[in-house]
Amino acid sequence: MYNLVVFASGNGSTLQAIIDNINSGNLKANIQLVVSNNPNAFALSRAQNANIPTYIIKSKLPSEIDAELLDVLSHYDVDLIVLAGYLKLIGSGLINKYAIINTHPALLPKYGGKGMYGMNVHRAVINANETKSGVTLHYVNEKYDSGDIISQTVVDVFPEDTPEDLAARVQRAEKIQLINVLKEFEK
Ligand code: GAR
Repeated sequence: MYNLVVFASGNGSTLQAIIDNINSGNLKANIQLVVSNNPNAFALSRAQNANIPTYIIKSKLPSEIDAELLDVLSHYDVDLIVLAGYLKLIGSGLINKYAIINTHPALLPKYGGKGMYGMNVHRAVINANETKSGVTLHYVNEKYDSGDIISQTVVDVFPEDTPEDLAARVQRAEKIQLINVLKEFEK
């Protein structure tokens, strides 16, 4: 059993997959805290429904966010931080103290970087007429989407795909891949 903190900015379907796998006994971990920069994130409701404590970031400047989160997380037992649709850059304080992984909905190094998140990624992949996209799980460093890659899953992109079709296919693969990687951290 190990301790996770999950960061999420939006819908939180990735967080939900983690919660569901813990509840079914498939993943032997605890979520200590869900952190969000967005007070309206549905991810927060998902956490509350699962009786997981939540924390909303107050600071605006990146350096202040880093200091704020270092202070908040010092009160928890944290083995791993998972960025599950979290859209802010992570500061050096957190990076130096914690193991942090991110799930990105494309095959990095393509379609990564600032502004490349969620549907923006899938739109860019379709506009470029790619025939493959996928999921990248990677460690987080101080630049967007550029830390060491843990694993990738390839999915097809079909000519008739809308960005929504592609997002759904990528997100199905993403949840399976993330849970597999999180199970590796059980050891
Ligand atoms: C996920 O597909 C995740 O890969 C992506 O946002 C989605 C969040 O969905 N993350 C990024 O694009 C980060 N650059 P969710 O809110 O339903 O979990």
